[in-house]
Amino acid sequence: MSTLTLILTFFLLCFPFARSNPFSRPAIFNFGDSNSDTGCLVGAAIESINPPYGHRFFGHPSGRYCDGRLIVDFLLDAMDMPFLNAYLDSLGAPNFRKGCNYAAAGSTVLPATATSVSPFSFGVQVNQFLHFKARVLELREGKGGKKLDKYLPAEEYFQKGLYMFDIGQNDLAGAFYSKTLDQILASIPTILAEFESGVQKLFDQGARNFWIHNTGPLGCLAQNVAKFGTDPSKLDEFGCVSSHNQAAKLFNLQLHALCKKLQGQYTDSNITYIDIYSIKSNLIANYSRLGFQQPIMACCGYGGPPLNYDSRIVCGQTKMLNGTLVTAKGCDDSSEYINWDGIHYSEAANQYVSSQILTGKYSDPPFSDKMPFLLKLKF
Ligand SMILES: *[C@@H]1O[C@H](CO)[C@@H](O)[C@H](O)[C@H]1NC(C)=O
Ligand SMILES: *[C@@H]1O[C@H](CO)[C@@H](O)[C@H](O)[C@H]1NC(C)=O
Ligand SMILES: *[C@@H]1O[C@H](CO)[C@@H](O)[C@H](O)[C@H]1NC(C)=O
Repeated sequence: MSTLTLILTFFLLCFPFARSNPFSRPAIFNFGDSNSDTGCLVGAAIESINPPYGHRFFGHPSGRYCDGRLIVDFLLDAMDMPFLNAYLDSLGAPNFRKGCNYAAAGSTVLPATATSVSPFSFGVQVNQFLHFKARVLELREGKGGKKLDKYLPAEEYFQKGLYMFDIGQNDLAGAFYSKTLDQILASIPTILAEFESGVQKLFDQGARNFWIHNTGPLGCLAQNVAKFGTDPSKLDEFGCVSSHNQAAKLFNLQLHALCKKLQGQYTDSNITYIDIYSIKSNLIANYSRLGFQQPIMACCGYGGPPLNYDSRIVCGQTKMLNGTLVTAKGCDDSSEYINWDGIHYSEAANQYVSSQILTGKYSDPPFSDKMPFLLKLKF
């Protein structure tokens, strides 16, 4: 990579105008699940995570379900933006000037039920945003509103900001515990109708720039392979559960169609659909060529090969299992693993996925003419 970095640096020095960032937005508002949760579920004291979470970048668990940074962190970095504060993380002087993150691990698009991991379903996240926006405008109007300039978005940021989404994976993955594949496939339009209704509320509030991630190949997560892939006939050539990936693909097909429909309706808006599924399945299928050693086995977990995943104990935990005290430990080098803890991707994998997003080739509409965006990515 260093030759490439040199060339890019040279290019930058010679053509300083290339630094102008066509993706720069004054603020980012993000909605989703653990794929982009930067501290919500942990901040809301619903879950706690132990080392070695966060060890590769933050040096401590940072509220992220990862050994380091998430895709959203890499994307914000490329946009010259600071990491997003979680809406519910109230300590440590959170700064919401450049946006806010409503994503919460375990969240679904459909309303939460008694057995949901997170009460912060998509509709709740949208309501949190509506409350946030109303409160920001009220505080800005009030006495001393100017003093809050450093901490709160300006009014126009709500219209000029970028609204990012990465949600749906838990609706599908969770359904496999109680429903047949056919029932799950049949429920996808209901999930997407709920998603559309949330996006519509944001649009009605002035949101005009939407950035929508599709869902990944969830059949390749060690958690799903362990539970649903014990019969080898259920697995595809890469060792992923076929039914889960089939559901993800149909979900994505319909999500893509919804994005097209919304783009047709919201003529004054930009809706960008990002094909995370293709990037991640390419990574898993071609892992060794892309610098990884383990496509599916979790780095941090318990049980050893082939999955190193045990649903009874989470990464970083020490627990009595079957009469013995055991610890779910991290591997020596998490950058060799695509999967971090059996459910979430490693920082190294997130970095690869982000670099692919930024090529513009996996998005609709594509953005290949906006290459300067790439220059900020640190390889
Ligand atoms: C949509 O994107 C184009 C091209 O980047 C930009 O010129 C336009 O202002 C954007 N529209 C909105 C509503 O921000
Ligand atoms: C793996 O890489 C090859 C060669 O680039 C490509 O043709 C193939 O589509 C990739 N596999 C997946 C699942 O993307
Ligand atoms: C518990 O330990 C017993 C005896 O070593 C073993 O046969 C059994 O498979 C273990 N069960 C689990 C769930 O690990």
